[in-house]
This record gives sequence, structure tokens and C-alpha cells, in this order.
Amino acid sequence: MATTPTRRPRFTLHDARRADTRAFMKLIALADPGNPDPFGMARQVLALPHQPPLSHPGLNLCLLARDGHGAPVGALLAGVPRWILDHPGIGYDVALMETMVEKIGMIHGVAVRPGDRGRGIGRALIAHAEQRFTRAGYDVMTLNHDGDQDAYYTHLGYTVTDMLVINLPVGLVAQTTDDTRMCAKPLTPRVKVTDVPGAPAPIITGVLPGTDIPEHAWFDGRTLHM
Ligand SMILES: CC(C)(COP(=O)(O)OP(=O)(O)OC[C@H]1O[C@@H](n2cnc3c(N)ncnc32)[C@H](O)[C@@H]1OP(=O)(O)O)[C@@H](O)C(=O)NCCC(=O)NCCS
Repeated sequence: MATTPTRRPRFTLHDARRADTRAFMKLIALADPGNPDPFGMARQVLALPHQPPLSHPGLNLCLLARDGHGAPVGALLAGVPRWILDHPGIGYDVALMETMVEKIGMIHGVAVRPGDRGRGIGRALIAHAEQRFTRAGYDVMTLNHDGDQDAYYTHLGYTVTDMLVINLPVGLVAQTTDDTRMCAKPLTPRVKVTDVPGAPAPIITGVLPGTDIPEHAWFDGRTLHM
């Protein structure tokens, strides 16, 4: 009997719309299974009209992946890192804060349906988000994740750390969380993630003019010496 080789259907990515709310919320919940209403704000975002260059107003990106039959198999939610809004080193300087929310993006969550993992869908969602933020003028993509995913994000080009440190004209600004790892990836060659002797974590440089760090720099616990 002649057999026809079957190929697993490919997947497609598109911006999630209001009609996708149910599917999107069900999938993105897989990224934070212990939370009763994770990413609840995405429901309000999806009710808004589509707005490029990201997908929705308020600097939000909601992506959905569908398999070859049109079934939703993956979701990604990205936008502004909320810590920037109330960080003492940034949030109290309105001009700096407004600049930073258009430079540093954050993937709030990404998830793939269990039976469809390992097919490159997560990688494609993340790569697409990086492209969209790059086109929108962003310099860095960031993400918080559990410790058991270090290898996954390192594999995708992220620097994984316990503390995000950014060199800004106001000095070094640092952010940590109680229970997650943090990772960052430059979206432009102008930005680097630099190891500086004495610094508690790699430092993100070049986001704003005059914030590059020379190779011989070192940190004494309070001051960056260059
Ligand atoms: C994390 C998750 C989104 C990854 O999605 P996925 O579609 O299974 O991953 P991909 O198939 O795109 O993997 C991409 C690459 O990473 C590799 N990879 C996968 N898991 C890895 C791991 N734990 N360590 C290192 N590399 C890994 C894959 O082999 C693949 O490599 P390749 O591109 O060289 O072939 C998915 O596992 C998931 O939904 N997990 C539950 C939700 C979650 O934890 N989300 C993240 C927190 S927000």
C-alpha cells in the first residue's frame, strides 16, 4: 500500500484581537500556573482596538500562535516593565521615565500548549516580539522567569542574572525581584551587557548617550570607576 508521508503542520503567528481573548487568556495562564488570574490586565488590553507598531495602546503586544489547523497553541504578552514606573532612580524623573518605557521592553509571559512544546513555537513568539520592539525603537528586551529556565533563555541569547543593572546618566539603576531570575537581551549593537569587576551583576550600557562603560572600569560597591 502506498503511503504519503505526513508532515506536522506548521504554525503561524498573529496579533491577538478581541475575538481571541478566551484562547489567549487560557494559553498565557500556563506561564503562571500558581496564580488564580494571571495576566488579568491582558483582558482589558485585548478589548482595545489594534494599534501598531506593537499590537495595542499602552505599549502592549499580544501575540497568538496557531497550528496548521488554526488551533491556538501559544501566546505571548509583552509591554512596559512596570518596575520602571515607580523605581526611585527613574520613576521620579518623569522625562527619564517616559524615555525608558520606550527603550526597555519586557515579555510579561510566554506559553505554549503542552503537546506543542519543543516545536520552536516559543522561540518564534519571542523572536517575533523582539523584532516588533526593535522596529518600535526599543533597545533592550527583558524578562523574568523561574530558575529552571536559565538554560532556555541563555540559548535564546539572553543574559540571565538575579539583578538587572542599567547604566543611566543618573548612575547605576538596579532592580531585583524576590522570587524570579531576570534576563536581558540588547536589540541593537549600540547596547551591551557588560561584566564589570566588583559589580553585583552584568551592566546594561549604551541605552542613553554617554552611558557606555570602558573595559578598564570597576565598581567598588558604591561608585563606578572609569
Ligand atoms: C518555555 C516555553 C514557552 C518554551 O516553548 P517551546 O515552544 O517549547 O520552546 P522551543 O521549541 O521554541 O525551544 C526553542 C529552543 O530552545 C531549546 N530548549 C527548550 N527547552 C530548553 C531548556 N530547558 N534549556 C535549553 N534549551 C531549551 C529547544 O531545544 C530549542 O532549540 P533549537 O531552537 O536549537 O531547536 C514552553 O516550554 C512553555 O510554555 N512553558 C510553560 C510556560 C512557561 O514556563 N513560560 C515561561 C515563563 S514566562
